[in-house]
Amino acid sequence: MTAPKKLFIKTYGCQMNVYDSERMAEALGGQGYTEAKSADEADMILLNTCHIREKAAEKVYSELGRFKKLKAQKPDLKIGVAGCVAQAEGQEIMRRQPLVDLVVGPQSYHRLPEMEEKAREGEKVLDTDFPEEDKFEKLKRRPKSKRGPTAFLTVQEGCDKFCAFCVVPYTRGAEVSRPADRILTEARDLVERGVREITLLGQNVNAYHGAGANGDLTLAQLIWELDKLEGLERIRFTTSHPNDMMNDLIEAHGTCKKLMPYLHLPVQAGSDKILKRMNRSHTAESYLRLIERIRAARPDILISGDFIVGFPEETEADFQATLDLVEEVKYGTAYSFKYSTRPGTPAAERPQVDPVEADDRLQRLQALLTRQQREIQDSMVGREVGVLFEKPGRQAGQMLGKSDYLHAVHVADCDRQAGDLARVRIVSSRTNSLAGELID
Ligand code: SAH
Ligand code: SF4
Ligand code: F3S
Repeated sequence: MTAPKKLFIKTYGCQMNVYDSERMAEALGGQGYTEAKSADEADMILLNTCHIREKAAEKVYSELGRFKKLKAQKPDLKIGVAGCVAQAEGQEIMRRQPLVDLVVGPQSYHRLPEMEEKAREGEKVLDTDFPEEDKFEKLKRRPKSKRGPTAFLTVQEGCDKFCAFCVVPYTRGAEVSRPADRILTEARDLVERGVREITLLGQNVNAYHGAGANGDLTLAQLIWELDKLEGLERIRFTTSHPNDMMNDLIEAHGTCKKLMPYLHLPVQAGSDKILKRMNRSHTAESYLRLIERIRAARPDILISGDFIVGFPEETEADFQATLDLVEEVKYGTAYSFKYSTRPGTPAAERPQVDPVEADDRLQRLQALLTRQQREIQDSMVGREVGVLFEKPGRQAGQMLGKSDYLHAVHVADCDRQAGDLARVRIVSSRTNSLAGELID
């Protein structure tokens, strides 16, 4: 038996990093690590990092700087950097911050136990290879420990789209789908451990084409396989690319009861000139027609999106086209960002928009998106929705959960447990949540 040690993981970035952090914690569990409540009590700290925008990447170095004192007090403390900054910057991290003992890229997490051993022996270790094997197969979930009612499950990783602004194809590598049987085994295990809702993850999740018993499965076919799992109540997936939104997936939104009426479908911009320069390979018009077809299959579906403003050479007229598209779609939620130059991507070399102008556009876009979000949330009042309860609220007897549309809902005087799915009537809408009552 190895002596018990404490591990603290801090996660940045997208849901895939959340999933990866769980896998890393389980892998290091085999090395005798249990979860530390804070960095102060840890024997090992791992930062699971994001490289998507400059600010995200810089955060890592300021966070590492804060560990200097801790490491001086505790020389045996090991510090590791994982995730997309690890992949993008590799050795450079150890050069900039010598207190780092270990750097591991997202494709090498299954090698973490042996890397940890080497780090314990005082070696500096780095692994940012892109191996052929399925790392998740080697990173099996440790069986049967109980867990919360919702879980992420990565089914696809990497991206071949090469949008001109984006680092993901470089940090996560080429698009790869996991075989269906492994996903189904993992899903069954999650359900046995109390999970009621699974969100399938991929940087391009709807491009999924994993091997099945009779040839490759599409994402819709995988969803129908998961639909058969008794005990699993809800299925979601994220993030989708408009060009991979196939007919069978659109149809599933109308016919698969477990598939929730929520779709994150980033468009990035509303001007065809900008979309072309972004290498998005869809137009504003084709996106709008796609949304129409999805709404024909599932009229109440809540659409979510991502936007970039201030992309190189974006004019006021181009930006206006983004506002027009937003007006037409009506987003239930959205994430909007000011363009951030990423070294090594094609757009980094192009003429940049004045940052003050870009800030102004971002504010205008966010004002519109916030208004739409609020209107759609308010329109839930009086409606009956499904709610999956996740945890007790701050007030006695109150339970918190998510609606089918992914709105946060709280119910007072609630006799249900975490993991229960109930019908709820929405009675009021607050800033970031809805209040509801159980329907018996
Ligand atoms: N695979 C997804 C999302 C990838 S990253 C997709 O295809 O849409 C999440 C979001 O970050 C993107 O949708 C985009 O809006 C934003 N993003 C990516 N690179 C960026 C950059 N260089 N500057 C600002 N925002 C960026
Ligand atoms: Fe990045 Fe584009 Fe791939 Fe999304 S589709 S991960 S934005 S390159
Ligand atoms: Fe960030 Fe990597 Fe996810 S760059 S958004 S953590 S894929």
